[in-house]
Amino acid sequence: MKILFIGDVVGSPGRDMVSDYVPKLKDKYKPQVTIINGENAASGKGITEKIYKQFLNLGAQVITLGNHTWAKRDIFEFIDNAPHMIRPANFPSENPGKGMTFLNINGIEIAVINLQGRTFLPPTDCPFKKADELINLAKKRTSIIFVDFHAEATSEKQAMGWYLDGRVSAVVGTHTHTQTADERILPNGTAFITDVGMTGPYESILGVEKETIINRFVDGLPARFEVDTEGSNQLNGCIIKLDKKTGQAIKIERIMINKDHPFFN
Ligand SMILES: [Fe+2]
Ligand SMILES: [Fe+2]
Repeated sequence: MKILFIGDVVGSPGRDMVSDYVPKLKDKYKPQVTIINGENAASGKGITEKIYKQFLNLGAQVITLGNHTWAKRDIFEFIDNAPHMIRPANFPSENPGKGMTFLNINGIEIAVINLQGRTFLPPTDCPFKKADELINLAKKRTSIIFVDFHAEATSEKQAMGWYLDGRVSAVVGTHTHTQTADERILPNGTAFITDVGMTGPYESILGVEKETIINRFVDGLPARFEVDTEGSNQLNGCIIKLDKKTGQAIKIERIMINKDHPFFN
């Protein structure tokens, strides 16, 4: 069983990369499941129904989100009719949507969980205790559990990896938009990477026009962040191979595609 995961898709450059490369990645790796983090898919913040459907049409089965979940008002209209779009499970319980979903691939169930960190991000319920709660529920149905942990601090993400080692198939980090080169299988069989990185503008700062961000550091004045659409683009993610009986990970491979790291079939 293979799971393809694509990190934070940013604006139209990110969506273009998904439509250009997800078919090629599917040809190359033959994943049974494709998951996309879409929290920045609509002009850099949030997601719309049109984009959600576009991702499904491109072959994604699950869309995960993060701290920009509610950025586009459109989401309140369709989140409850989007069974395979999940937002961080440890958001306040009154929030619409849900944080875990199940897929059935040829009779094999897969649970996908989205959680958000609490370090340098708005307050939420405890992601560790929420993980315990959801894993207990998921284990009644399947041993294949995939976790997208959307968090800022590398320490918090590594803590989650070790905390869940042996209890889930994979913990992949998102949110920082910068890929880390620390992918590995932890001792009890959980695939882990601190952050898979983003998908969108490459000659940018985390997806935003670099001049705006540089000026923000130099003069400190407020400025509107726009997704860069001038330069070349990148796609970042990972592919995880796991044992479909035990749910344990066998291999994790980083995917990085940009003009300095071209794609090879
Ligand atoms: Fe993001
Ligand atoms: Fe984020």
